[in-house]
Amino acid sequence: MEINDKNPVEKDELTGDKLLSGHDYDDIRELDNNLPKWWIWLFIITIIYAVVYLFVFDVIKIAPQQEDEYNKEMAAAAALAPMAQAMVFDTLMAPITDQAALDAGKAIFDKNCVVCHKAQGQGLVGPNLTDAFSIHGCRYIDALNVIANGVPEKGMISWKTQLTKDQIQQVASYTMTLRGTNPPDPKAPQGDPCK
Ligand code: HEC
Repeated sequence: MEINDKNPVEKDELTGDKLLSGHDYDDIRELDNNLPKWWIWLFIITIIYAVVYLFVFDVIKIAPQQEDEYNKEMAAAAALAPMAQAMVFDTLMAPITDQAALDAGKAIFDKNCVVCHKAQGQGLVGPNLTDAFSIHGCRYIDALNVIANGVPEKGMISWKTQLTKDQIQQVASYTMTLRGTNPPDPKAPQGDPCK
């Protein structure tokens, strides 16, 4: 649009919006539109927020500082640790001694394990579970591991898909009670002596 005497006010022909003077690129001219109200308010709010934030966190410091929050979280975690440790210890390190659970463990053993470990755990295809020797370790956690994950290449099945966690704990706890029971006709010891 030509700026001339007839058209002294720099306005866009179509919209009537004011044109910015001096912004003329090959006759493409920039409009001087007002920014939307919501945008301006958002902008003002961010500025206010920044000032308040700076004041609260860095000048008068009434809000908790990053370091305080970190220390608080760490203290809370430290307070929880012994409890978490105790829980892990109870479930993973110590066999269940509850009689009902051991009976359930025996039932699982009778159903799933006797084919290879024999009725009293004296061993057949699988090793003797009643002597003081073990291939994979003598601790309860070792039994849990072998029962859950198996030793497929040696013929010990992985039971974690067929038994629940509770059932694995029950049957593992039951196998621990077999140790030292001296049943008749035991299989020769395999693995390392238990300390
Ligand atoms: C198909 C035969 C088979 C079945 C069924 C079987 N096992 Fe085993 N099991 C084995 C063999 C073989 C080994 C020895 C693996 C090796 O040599 O590393 C073994 C090892 C173990 C061990 C580790 C012994 C050690 O000396 O470290 C435990 C504990 C055990 N089985 C428990 C069970 C329980 C509990 C079940 C039933 C839920 C079961 N097994 C069912 C064959 C079997």
